[in-house]
Amino acid sequence: MDGTYNFIPDLSTNTKVYTTDAPQQIMDINHHLVNYILDMDGKGQGVHDTINAGVSKFTGWKSFDSSHMQHLLDWIGYEITNNFMTQIKDFLPVFSQVWGMEYNVNDVTPAHSHEPALVSFTYYPYIENPEIAQPLEICTFPDGSIEMDLSMCADHVQEKTHQWGKTMLSIPPHTGQLVVFPAYCFHQVKPVTVKTDRYCIAGNIHHDFENQPPHWD
Ligand SMILES: [Fe+2]
Repeated sequence: MDGTYNFIPDLSTNTKVYTTDAPQQIMDINHHLVNYILDMDGKGQGVHDTINAGVSKFTGWKSFDSSHMQHLLDWIGYEITNNFMTQIKDFLPVFSQVWGMEYNVNDVTPAHSHEPALVSFTYYPYIENPEIAQPLEICTFPDGSIEMDLSMCADHVQEKTHQWGKTMLSIPPHTGQLVVFPAYCFHQVKPVTVKTDRYCIAGNIHHDFENQPPHWD
């Protein structure tokens, strides 16, 4: 490697995290979304060998095969276009992945980003108790200096005891909440210690260069 890396602070990127609450027509399908997670657990792509494989329920990366999911994604695409990617005229979102999960006791997600996606989101169709549900944390890059005890967690995450960042923004989830952030943002969910229902649907978005307006070409 002959090049030089010049590390600069993220202050150059004007990073923002957007949270909003679902309209009534999305709240009305939350129970269908939870049922989708329950029904499709373990059936999709990547359920046995990827970062989420150890979480109690995981539908796989390509969970598009539900009219309720499509309804949810229509709303999320609207929110991201109109309220998050506001600096880009005629941003055209395309969803590359979407997946559902249920976190239970000892479930965990060490610090990670969603690159090379552009924008990522998490939506919560059901949070039993926002006071005790484990928060989503936007965090610093995991430099190995923070250690957590993962001995009770799934086998494949136990070797990630040092893969944690310092918390920059802690977001306690609640039913109907959408969180949108740039895909490069590292984030984490610390080990769940209390039994309480926590369902989420997460995904990634890119710009649709194939179908963009002519003036972009
Ligand atoms: Fe993530």
